[in-house]
Amino acid sequence: MKKTLSRAKKFQGRPRIPGDKSISHRGLILGALAAGTSEVVDILEGEDVQSTARCLKELGVGISKIGNRTLIEGIGERGFLTPKNVLDCGNSGTTMRVMMGVLAGRDLTATLTGDASLVKRPMKRVSEPLMKMGAQFKLTQDNFAPLTVTGTQLHAVDYELKIASAQIKTAILMAALCADGATKITGEIGSRDHTERLLPHFGCAIEVSDQSIRLRGGQKLKANKVEVPSDPSTAAFWIGAASLIPGSVLELENISLNPTRIGFIYALQKMGASIEIKIVKELPEPVGTVRVLAAQLRGIKITKEQVPSLIDELPLLAVLATQAHGVTEVRGAEELRVKESDRIEMVATNLRAMGIEIETFDDGFKIIGPQKLTGAEIQSDHDHRIAMAFSVAALVADQETVIHDAECVAVSYPRFYETLEELIQS
Ligand code: S3P
Repeated sequence: MKKTLSRAKKFQGRPRIPGDKSISHRGLILGALAAGTSEVVDILEGEDVQSTARCLKELGVGISKIGNRTLIEGIGERGFLTPKNVLDCGNSGTTMRVMMGVLAGRDLTATLTGDASLVKRPMKRVSEPLMKMGAQFKLTQDNFAPLTVTGTQLHAVDYELKIASAQIKTAILMAALCADGATKITGEIGSRDHTERLLPHFGCAIEVSDQSIRLRGGQKLKANKVEVPSDPSTAAFWIGAASLIPGSVLELENISLNPTRIGFIYALQKMGASIEIKIVKELPEPVGTVRVLAAQLRGIKITKEQVPSLIDELPLLAVLATQAHGVTEVRGAEELRVKESDRIEMVATNLRAMGIEIETFDDGFKIIGPQKLTGAEIQSDHDHRIAMAFSVAALVADQETVIHDAECVAVSYPRFYETLEELIQS
């Protein structure tokens, strides 16, 4: 599907933002492992989360929906069923990587695969730590899906994470649940911490400090209810648009304000954006309101330490940088090259198509603003965040912009274009 967009004269409203993708995956998975029936309220309806639900159902987990409540009949002591079919993780890296950890210590053999993008993404980063725990994996060309896991008894390890990835961290923690002994993770543990916050919510003790995470194997999870707040990475597109379009007023409620997730808001505030956040509830996840007014932005430098807290928002930040005064430089973000697309390449190609000068590095990019955005044909490479970031660019560009493969937004935000129409016609 192609979507044609042009400059927005107005941008205003109080859109309801869909549920957080990361918390939705984890709610389903921890509910599936627990004894009893768990409930996930306001789960994200996007395709990625449906991929996790599909895999869990294939493993014999009962999942049903009543209105906005998703009920999960956890396996408890019973164990998973051996799947009859290949587990199709679709476009979802979180599904595949976290399920690798979930299955490594279970009594079954399963094959996981995904769409054309997912089978090109690196998986050895997950199998490697899990194999140190005794897990058995066979990967395509030693790094990719389709991959097969044969469950086995796992042993606790001390593992130093080299990549600040919540997917790898979560996979190790899921495997650690089945391992004998206590697993300790050190190194780059500062990525999003939803798993660490939710495990105690499901009755599992976990020790977390700035330096390490420690989890004792053999603990049994107990069913619980998870209320999913709205996704800050999804809200980011409207926060960015409101900052750019003169006269905008945007008010958002029930947004996850977990500090490991809102580096984008902090970065924008430093760029001169007018964003007020207010936390209204702290546990198990900080949640609150966000109010945004349009503002004149200035360039910013983003360093490696900041990257994990805004990794998914960096394509959008590049769009904002084109309208900010001065230099914006992002470094230490080489992970962008192995997301749903090579996001450094896709950002550069599409910004250049819109008339922007951008310098790229292995680990980031540099843009000197402000520059004039001109409507263009945008190739999203089926990457939801590229399609949405360039939809925001289209709202401040001269002439029409056409987003190709625009339907890919359904991975995280099925109603993205409907909500966009509502906000610009407010
Ligand atoms: C996610 C972690 C991030 C993020 C992805 C969701 C998660 O990936 O980009 O969209 O839910 O754990 P990495 O952990 O690989 O950085």
